[in-house]
Amino acid sequence: MSSDHKLLAEANHTRRLHVGDEVYLRGLIEISNFCSCNCLYCGLRRENQNIHRYRMTPHEILEAALPALELGYGTIVLQAGEDPGLSPQTIAGVITDLKNLGLAVTLSLGEWNRPVYRLWKQAGVDRYLMRHETADAKLYARLKPGKNLYDRLKSLNILRELDYQIGAGFMIGVPGNSDPSHEADLALLADLQPDMAGVGPFIPNPDTPLGNYKAPSMERSLSVLARVRLVIPDAHLPATTALETLYPQGRRQGLEAGANVIMPNLTPLRYRQEYRLYPGKGARGQGAENHQSILGLLKELRRPVGKGPGHSVLWNKKIRQTKKAAE
Ligand code: 5AD
Ligand code: SF4
Repeated sequence: MSSDHKLLAEANHTRRLHVGDEVYLRGLIEISNFCSCNCLYCGLRRENQNIHRYRMTPHEILEAALPALELGYGTIVLQAGEDPGLSPQTIAGVITDLKNLGLAVTLSLGEWNRPVYRLWKQAGVDRYLMRHETADAKLYARLKPGKNLYDRLKSLNILRELDYQIGAGFMIGVPGNSDPSHEADLALLADLQPDMAGVGPFIPNPDTPLGNYKAPSMERSLSVLARVRLVIPDAHLPATTALETLYPQGRRQGLEAGANVIMPNLTPLRYRQEYRLYPGKGARGQGAENHQSILGLLKELRRPVGKGPGHSVLWNKKIRQTKKAAE
């Protein structure tokens, strides 16, 4: 067995021991593609004139979420660019409505502030995804003009203080990253021990200043993903959309290299085409069709669909400890 194969097998084994064979399905709704940031790698950057901007209404969001109930997804992920046009109050209302339907809610709306995070927590939100993108502070500042890594990590800390389950993560092979094995990113994750981590390959987008750079190879992406499983063994790790967009068998290979989550896209097609972080995103079939292909794959892999909200192992341990302390 090559050392790469050994690494992937070890990650797969660790995944089974720590988080089991279940694969959790999280319905993704991309609620707005407005963004006030200008990240060098991302198609939603404010200077990109080649996409039509949209913002979904609360009614449209709830409608998009309904298939999650039929398909048995326990969680809805609301994602957007960093959009100052989103009203925190409106989002709070949507969170409460989704919770009343019995769904867990994850937000991925970029950096806000403590009062807003608190408002959303009071509305019932469960988790917040905020990738750290790169652990190299200088590179971070170059890739995300006007932003800094310190603020990002501060936001993650506030979210944790407010009792959110938190998600960090990074882009494999982002231009300017000089270390192919991403040691600094792995160390940051090991230190942070997030409940989940989104780790996927960089994909060049011709509508951005980094459009001429190369995506990492599949081997490299999978081995970094496997290392992530080993440093945060209890975390939820998706087989990311970027992984499945870039490589034909990406979803399957991700699930066999440590991943235990899939995030099927529930965004209405007319909007999804405009949520173009990178080319090819959102090209997969919608709703039932995509669902059937996921079920088929999980059957082949002998991996059951996770039932219930799919909170993190770390979170469930914390709840148990709190209960014990109260007894
Ligand atoms: N390639 C891969 N991932 C990207 N993202 C944004 N642009 C790209 C790209 N060109 C990722 C970022 C962000 C997430 C929503 O999408 O990591 O956090
Ligand atoms: Fe905006 Fe996020 Fe894209 Fe940066 S990565 S431009 S913050 S959507």
